[in-house]
Amino acid sequence: MNIAVLCGGLSNERDVSLSGGVGIARALREQGHKVALLDLFLGWTEPFEHIEDVFTHEDAGTSFAVGENAPDLDAVRAMRPGQGLVGPNVLDICKAADIAFLALHGEEGENGKLQAYFDINGVKYTGSGYLGSAIAMDKDVSKTVLRAAGIPVAEGVVLKKGEPAADVGFPCVVKPCSGGSSVGTTIVQDPAGYDAALALAFKYEDRVLVEKFIPGRELTVGVLDGKAMPVTEIIPKSGFYDYKNKYQPGMTDEPCPAPITAEETAAIQAMAERAYKALRLEAYGRVDFIMGRDGVFYCLEANTLPGMTPTSLIPRMGKAMGMTYGQLCDRLIEASLKKYGR
Ligand SMILES: Nc1ncnc2c1ncn2[C@@H]1O[C@H](COP(=O)(O)OP(=O)(O)O)[C@@H](O)[C@H]1O
Ligand SMILES: [Mg+2]
Repeated sequence: MNIAVLCGGLSNERDVSLSGGVGIARALREQGHKVALLDLFLGWTEPFEHIEDVFTHEDAGTSFAVGENAPDLDAVRAMRPGQGLVGPNVLDICKAADIAFLALHGEEGENGKLQAYFDINGVKYTGSGYLGSAIAMDKDVSKTVLRAAGIPVAEGVVLKKGEPAADVGFPCVVKPCSGGSSVGTTIVQDPAGYDAALALAFKYEDRVLVEKFIPGRELTVGVLDGKAMPVTEIIPKSGFYDYKNKYQPGMTDEPCPAPITAEETAAIQAMAERAYKALRLEAYGRVDFIMGRDGVFYCLEANTLPGMTPTSLIPRMGKAMGMTYGQLCDRLIEASLKKYGR
């Protein structure tokens, strides 16, 4: 197949996406595909005679390591000042491809707008359609849908910028409503840290969730083509599962399958499949949970384009199912093409 791998873009998870995109492009080439690796925002600027030539262009091969902090997006924007999200030649290359593999994460790229743009333009892409992407991106809307589907979620409130700061007691979790990779998220132990946590979250968004902190074990479940993958436990060596603990190798233990009972595994996998359906996810996704000390599984959120870096969770789950990274990428494409009736 001719595949356009889209990465980069303009979200806080730009670096995570670049790292995943490079790995995906390399793996798909090893699987025998022809691949054009594109930065969604910067586009394709090398000259070409025929558009198909981009799929045999020697560009990848390099690796990309995610830094300790989220990237400076103003510096990226300055490379194409005053321009929109989709860079030069991106649409034409995606139209010429058999499918666009979305190695994008975060607001722009994962929130449904690009998916709708591609639908309108007849581009096939991996992962969920525009509706599921939009629902899952907004943690407040997601929680409403999950609650209606009978799936427990953390109690909490949504604050708009400028509104008085209601609290739900301490410890609590303050997080941007549509964020990802824990950027702007703080676990607040007592009232002293509350204002600073709100100020940080409001730097990223005008809507912020304040949730009760749920003590328990953190578990995450990939869902591939509607079926749960092996459950993985997340055990940061220090602190909580923040940006650094997510992307710096060795900072977090991630046993897969998770060392929980068969009953717990079955229960959480069933819940992940229900959440996937309720949130209108398609092809694949990953659902995050806390198994509370009270014995309740609380769903924190769902990710429609979960990370695909070397330390990411979905590749680990694929491995536990006997799939290499390349085979997993092929399965994601196969599952995604089902959206188009193939
Ligand atoms: N209500 C909560 N109780 C306990 N921990 C939480 C809660 N909400 C978030 N966390 C912690 O913060 C991390 C990031 O939160 P999450 O809702 O998954 O957002 P995202 O991964 O999109 O940044 C979680 O992996 C978890 O460690
Ligand atoms: Mg999460």
